[in-house]
Amino acid sequence: MATFGSGNNNRRNTFDGGLAIEFERLLVGQPGVAKQILPFVEMFEAGLSPEGRPSGVFLLLGPTGTGKTRSVEALAETLHGSNRHVLRIDCGEYQMDHEVAKLVGAPPGYLGHRETQPLLSQARINSVSSEKSALSILLFDEIEKAAPSMMRMLLGILDRGILRLGDNNLVNLERTMIFMTSNLGADKMQKELVPTMGFSLTATNEAKGPGARRLESIGLAAAKKKFSPEFMNRIDATIAYQPLDDKALTQILNLQIDNIQHHVDLRMGARSFELEVTAKLKRFLLDKGTSIEYGARELKRTIQRFVLQPLAGVINKGQIPPGALVEMDLKNGEKILIRIHADEDDPED
Ligand SMILES: Nc1ncnc2c1ncn2[C@@H]1O[C@H](COP(=O)(O)OP(=O)(O)OP(=O)(O)O)[C@@H](O)[C@H]1O
Ligand SMILES: [Mg+2]
Repeated sequence: MATFGSGNNNRRNTFDGGLAIEFERLLVGQPGVAKQILPFVEMFEAGLSPEGRPSGVFLLLGPTGTGKTRSVEALAETLHGSNRHVLRIDCGEYQMDHEVAKLVGAPPGYLGHRETQPLLSQARINSVSSEKSALSILLFDEIEKAAPSMMRMLLGILDRGILRLGDNNLVNLERTMIFMTSNLGADKMQKELVPTMGFSLTATNEAKGPGARRLESIGLAAAKKKFSPEFMNRIDATIAYQPLDDKALTQILNLQIDNIQHHVDLRMGARSFELEVTAKLKRFLLDKGTSIEYGARELKRTIQRFVLQPLAGVINKGQIPPGALVEMDLKNGEKILIRIHADEDDPED
């Protein structure tokens, strides 16, 4: 009979559908992602994850700016209440074989043995779990950049759920979910995307169209070419992200504006105000900050420049009375106009 991990029975996360709703609220236009990842979370929470391996291993593929990294943050937010509960390894920093020592620590007798604190220690892994859930989230971003020695280390982790550090201590990763993101195949996907302007390819909440399936097979073929069959066999699910259409991008923009409001309420308390972004300014932010090729990558920066910075100006000048409605609009191309309505009936520019 198979043995199962002990999961998280006594500090049970309320896995009652609420988790799925919150996750899908945070991750827009990628319905397949929740479907593939959340069942593994549910197994973990029920104490039914198999022993001797991580609680779930996922390879996230697809075009840039479509939410691969965001998915992992969104899972941490829903499970632990904050996107800081992710141990993120940027594989771009481990492109040379010797750099893997930063992750596991140098063996005794080697230079740097005492100084190097391994990044993948048990304490670090445990530190990203929380009162709410015992599941740790480990993210290897841009896995295609990892050195061969790091890939061997990873293969060992995926195989046994155990990592041996340089000092011979063992790290248990059975209560850890491993995510690997990659842009493999993204160039080829890009070529597919641009000529069609993404009409048949973009994400909708309905089933995948033939275009999305084509992207999926491009990603999978690129991954199979790059990674060994042993490695691919140890992955529980390979998830292909779809390009985001205008509707999804608008939803992401609204989500980010809601976040600003939330932040203002939290920070300013009784001095808080209501922020409103006009449809005209929203359209401008979408045109400037999103595209079929780069997804929502530039949206945050665009919002920072055209919403947060002008808003900071009026806040710092003390121009916003508590409870005011602050309406942000666009005038003459790129000029941001801020109207402050002290109350609904008495607008003052
Ligand atoms: N599907 C999505 N739902 C919500 N927000 C998203 C989504 N896709 C992108 N974003 C926004 O865009 C930003 C960039 O997305 P993200 O970092 O997840 O891209 P990525 O797919 O990992 O791209 P890359 O391959 O370039 O790393 C996120 O921080 C988030 O604000
Ligand atoms: Mg990413």
